[in-house]
Amino acid sequence: MADKKAILTIDGNQVELPIYSGTLGQDVIDIRTLGQHGHFTFDPGFLATGSCESEITFIDGGKGVLLHRGYPIDQLATQADYLETCYLLFNGEAPSEEEYKEFVSIIKNHTMVHEGIHQFFNGFDRDAHPMAMLNSVVGALSSFYHNDLDITDPEQRHRCANRLVAKLPTIAAMCYKYSIGQPFVCPKNSLNYSENFLNMMFSVPAEDYEINPAVAKAMDRIFTLHADHEQNASTSTVRLAGSSGANPYACIAAGIASLWGPAHGGANEACLNMLEEIGTVDRIDEYVAKAKDKNDPFRLMGFGHRVYKNFDPRATVMRETCHEVLESLGIKDPLLDVAMRLEQIALEDPYFVEKKLYPNVDFYSGIILKAIGIPTNMFTVIFALSRTIGWISHWNEMLSQPGAKIGRPRQLYTGQDKREFQPIKK
Ligand code: CMC
Repeated sequence: MADKKAILTIDGNQVELPIYSGTLGQDVIDIRTLGQHGHFTFDPGFLATGSCESEITFIDGGKGVLLHRGYPIDQLATQADYLETCYLLFNGEAPSEEEYKEFVSIIKNHTMVHEGIHQFFNGFDRDAHPMAMLNSVVGALSSFYHNDLDITDPEQRHRCANRLVAKLPTIAAMCYKYSIGQPFVCPKNSLNYSENFLNMMFSVPAEDYEINPAVAKAMDRIFTLHADHEQNASTSTVRLAGSSGANPYACIAAGIASLWGPAHGGANEACLNMLEEIGTVDRIDEYVAKAKDKNDPFRLMGFGHRVYKNFDPRATVMRETCHEVLESLGIKDPLLDVAMRLEQIALEDPYFVEKKLYPNVDFYSGIILKAIGIPTNMFTVIFALSRTIGWISHWNEMLSQPGAKIGRPRQLYTGQDKREFQPIKK
């Protein structure tokens, strides 16, 4: 219940609006009754709009805090693995040892995809972007899981989440294998989640693939660090799509579409492309100047965040992992020199300091993924794979809440006033 209120005066009339406090974070003003007073709010880009009530993730962008179900992200990234984090996100509590074992076994039992899924790939161009394939194939899962699906049943929603967490690595690796003309590799249940993904990505029938434990650990950490991030564009897309009661696999495909853009999940790919374009340390100043030039649309990819106006806590862990991986693989990557120098310049340059543009998670994840041997166009696919648990947890939360409404924003109409239509003959 609201114990505070805001008073809004419109044309001399006062409107009382309740203010709610959450467990953490800023209070929110409930403006739902404003429509009855003949007004809507106007907030393109949702700069100050809370779209839902949620118990899953909390971000304090000013302090650089990210909590999943109350647990700080750095603790989860270093003390839990991805599947533990998935369990936590979806169920609300971390698993006991017994629950964890059972969950791992359930996930392993769902890793294979229907044979029919293989056929979809034949229709794609060999040079199709893996995100295009991922988007289509995840959407196509709805054709296998629709007729008997009752999304009002919590157990069926849970099964759907398990299927998605289990199958996304298989489908993601299939996208890669198809694009390079190699045969699909079946999931191997003797391997853990990240090892299995690496094996499906890199093993070939002609040769054994040896999994480097440091690489598998880094992969798992990348999955964990991307698992959820509150009401970002793709999560809000999944919620909005799901609010109409749509098929969950189709909703996740909608989330994948939203994630693809360079301002969101596509930033890690864009960041690596940018580092490659810069190429050498002596060219950094030129690119920093471009980023600062108001007349140049160029932005430093991997810098800045809508919510974090401080160091992205995921970036801190990712930075350490990045160094660990490069050291363990013995990689001396000139791109890392460019990245480290760029980071230093941006942290000192008044333009970036004043605008609070810190390196974000994608700045470092791209370098790690490159070191692991993952091609640039697969970066966002890996982000999507990791974020699927976040999306489906939010979808599930929304459907579990009583009185859930279809998402339907309003607008400020600035088009033509009413006018008479003239038939074409006239
Ligand atoms: N390089 C140069 N200038 C920047 C950058 C950048 N990366 N990001 C923001 N600015 C400037 C921007 O020009 C604007 O300047 P002014 O106030 O003079 O007009 C000011 O900073 C505020 O920018 P904004 O676009 O209003 O901020 P936003 O909150 O709408 O955008 C963002 C956030 C992430 C889209 C933006 O910082 C950006 O485009 N960054 C590069 C892309 C990127 O790395 N995205 C990954 C985000 S992390 C992964 C995820 O969670 O999806």
